Amino acid sequence: MDLFEYQARDLFEEHNIPVLAGAVASTPEAAEAAAAKMGGKVVVKAQVKVGGRGKAGGVKLAQDAKDAREKAEEILGMDIKGHTVHQVMIAQAAPIAEEYYMAILLDRANRNFLVMASVAGGMEIEEVAHTQPEKLARVGIDPNVGISQEKALEIVRAGQFPADITKDVADVLLKLWAAFVAEDATLMEINPLVKTEGGRIVALDGKVTLDDNASFRHPNHEALIDHASANPLEAAAKEKNLNYVKLDGEVGIIGNGAGLVMSTLDVVAYAGEKYGVKPANFLDIGGGASAQVMADGLSIILGDPDVRSVFVNVFGGITACDAVANGIVQALEMLGSKATKPIVVRLDGNNVIEGRKILKDAAHPLVQQLDTMDGAAAKAAELAAK
Ligand SMILES: Nc1ncnc2c1ncn2[C@@H]1O[C@H](COP(=O)(O)OP(=O)(O)OP(=O)(O)O)[C@@H](O)[C@H]1O
Ligand SMILES: [Mg+2]
Repeated sequence: MDLFEYQARDLFEEHNIPVLAGAVASTPEAAEAAAAKMGGKVVVKAQVKVGGRGKAGGVKLAQDAKDAREKAEEILGMDIKGHTVHQVMIAQAAPIAEEYYMAILLDRANRNFLVMASVAGGMEIEEVAHTQPEKLARVGIDPNVGISQEKALEIVRAGQFPADITKDVADVLLKLWAAFVAEDATLMEINPLVKTEGGRIVALDGKVTLDDNASFRHPNHEALIDHASANPLEAAAKEKNLNYVKLDGEVGIIGNGAGLVMSTLDVVAYAGEKYGVKPANFLDIGGGASAQVMADGLSIILGDPDVRSVFVNVFGGITACDAVANGIVQALEMLGSKATKPIVVRLDGNNVIEGRKILKDAAHPLVQQLDTMDGAAAKAAELAAK
């Protein structure tokens, strides 16, 4: 789960990472009130989960509360790279002397964590990596060892920070690491980390991704979920404990086992090229494939207005094909008139003969069977194109 900047700010504050006062507002009036309470100059910042807000006009300095209201009026409702701004953060304005960069992320390829730190901040880090690689420290962190004070100092020096602030920046890095571990994050980025004219080191912008696999350890993370902009189909699937990801095609996909579903997506994408159609989703119904799970899966997929045909691809293993076939028949009974789109089924594996017979005997008008994965994918693509 990605957090909004204001949520990242609050999380940083909880972990004693230096931040400035900040408040979130969803109306110009609330923005004015927050700015009046803060006093002095403030920065009005669009709260969208995408970078480059500054360049898009979503970060504006306001001289006073009245100005903050005007700036909020301009920014609220703005579209930034396809994200509508529903909230702004009113942040105390910092007198910036210098802008730096600091991040900790999960480095999947190296089964490790990675710290990046650079004296060149404010701009996109890809650009720093490209134009001034010598100013970007990239240091792998063994999760079993973590970051010691010495390591933190070493990283900060490698990032070419001025000597007089090395200790303070290292201190922020240690706190960021503590927060990263405590919250089970996969990304914590501060860009910019600034030195103020008074010499203080402060985090002015935060980007945080929390690891959803660890959400059971963090009941308090529930409150950070952005229900308003969650995809309604994905939310419904989550409620039913289904592994569902919405994609932007027309062929609904159901399979048992993540590997089979992934290859089904490939086969359908390939077969669909001819017709200009693509897979509409990823849905792994797992090992059980009971009638209820099949009905839940089918109803989510049929509820997607983009879907024009459905491909059910099942390889019978411990759950045999006859059980899955019964599941499909009963699911269609449960769905009744809600089932409206053609369904192509391919069964193979354990008890395939029995499974195919059950579907054949049920003779549901929407269902047709094909014996091979390629054949079924081609049929589903053809039906979606009609
Ligand atoms: N509280 C603040 N006080 C003063 N200046 C600020 C403040 N917050 C942000 N800025 C300035 O605005 C710039 C962009 O802000 P920020 O990093 O939060 O947005 P961003 O979405 O990352 O934008 P971009 O990708 O365009 O840099 C910062 O680099 C900094 O110069
Ligand atoms: Mg930024």
